[in-house]
Amino acid sequence: MQEQSAGSFFFQGAVEAAIAAGYRHIDTAYSYNNEVDIGKALCSKTKQGIIRRQDMFIVSKLWCTHHAPEDIPVCLNKSLKDLQLDYLDLYLKMGDELFPKKDGKMLTCDIDYVDVWRGMEALQASGKVKSIGVSNFSILQLKRLLALCRVPPAVNQIELHPYLVQTDMIEFCKSKNIALTAYSPFGSPARPPELFRGDTDPHKLLEDPVVADIAKKHRHSPAQVLLRYHVQQGIAVIPKSDKPHHILENTKMFDFSLTEEDMRALRGLDRGWRACIADCCSVSQNQVSSILPLCLRLPGEWREQTAHWIDEYHKHQQASDQLHTVCCTCSITHCNSSVPCLHNNNRI
Ligand SMILES: NC(=O)c1ccc[n+]([C@@H]2O[C@H](COP(=O)([O-])OP(=O)(O)OC[C@H]3O[C@@H](n4cnc5c(N)ncnc54)[C@H](OP(=O)(O)O)[C@@H]3O)[C@@H](O)[C@H]2O)c1
Repeated sequence: MQEQSAGSFFFQGAVEAAIAAGYRHIDTAYSYNNEVDIGKALCSKTKQGIIRRQDMFIVSKLWCTHHAPEDIPVCLNKSLKDLQLDYLDLYLKMGDELFPKKDGKMLTCDIDYVDVWRGMEALQASGKVKSIGVSNFSILQLKRLLALCRVPPAVNQIELHPYLVQTDMIEFCKSKNIALTAYSPFGSPARPPELFRGDTDPHKLLEDPVVADIAKKHRHSPAQVLLRYHVQQGIAVIPKSDKPHHILENTKMFDFSLTEEDMRALRGLDRGWRACIADCCSVSQNQVSSILPLCLRLPGEWREQTAHWIDEYHKHQQASDQLHTVCCTCSITHCNSSVPCLHNNNRI
């Protein structure tokens, strides 16, 4: 669950409603600025005897400002403190993020994500994190990680829905025993207006006629069909809602099955469209520089991918301006202005 616009009491209430409805997997991140409220909700439901710690699956994410080896535990410890937990079930390293900016330039860091991963492995060894995974990693990044690391990523959390089917990624992850988590399953209809891309933007996945027809046939809602689509492929899915009736509705997807024809029709909607353009806006210097030395020694596909990344990095640096706002506590600009800076702890 990402940060909500409403007050924290409201947000805590939404998490409590989700737990009461049966949700046990909570997705958060330090940068979502909601971990204190999630911690309160977890505490409250534990005190009421509704849940025990071991019933829950709590996922958080390392922030891009904390990639230096000594900073990685700092970010985790902050999340644990805010969530009032002594361990996480899964901690994710993002593959691409919005880095802070200063004087119009992105403050990226050149730490190789493979080295960051070694820091993640150390967290797992410490017992503060049960599993480690990645988010928004490409197949190329996963291949490199698998080739160089001791602990393979347990999960890749990526955007997935019928407008972004990603068959290659699904097959690759299955072949490597990497579980997938699908985010933005409804195409993130509440994303900020600056992330909409005009009339051609097919942002109404929930209103797509193909989805609507399948929903009508099964006497379920379009949202339930879009969730069932993942579950039926063995993919975990993390919808977001702060409305109690939607929170409940989204749990009711285990009492029907989509036919092979339904699945084909849904996959047929694929158009390679992403709701979260942040990931392509923020192809970082980190990705470029860490992959470059390797690619210079390798021909073909790898070299092409690198050229593609460098291209994207330059192309989208400008677009990412729209996604950055001035931080509430310092002059550096962030993707999320309400997240207090931890700049004194980082190396960028
Ligand atoms: N790793 C990453 O880079 C990354 C990026 C983006 C998101 N995520 C994760 O994925 C989660 C979900 O992604 P998201 O928020 O982008 O998109 P989403 O789940 O596709 O969309 C959320 C929107 O759908 C609406 N909705 C929920 N249930 C509904 C229903 N049954 N009927 C109609 N509308 C419904 C919600 O409105 P109401 O509140 O009004 O119900 C909300 O506006 C996030 O909270 C975050 O944890 C991860």
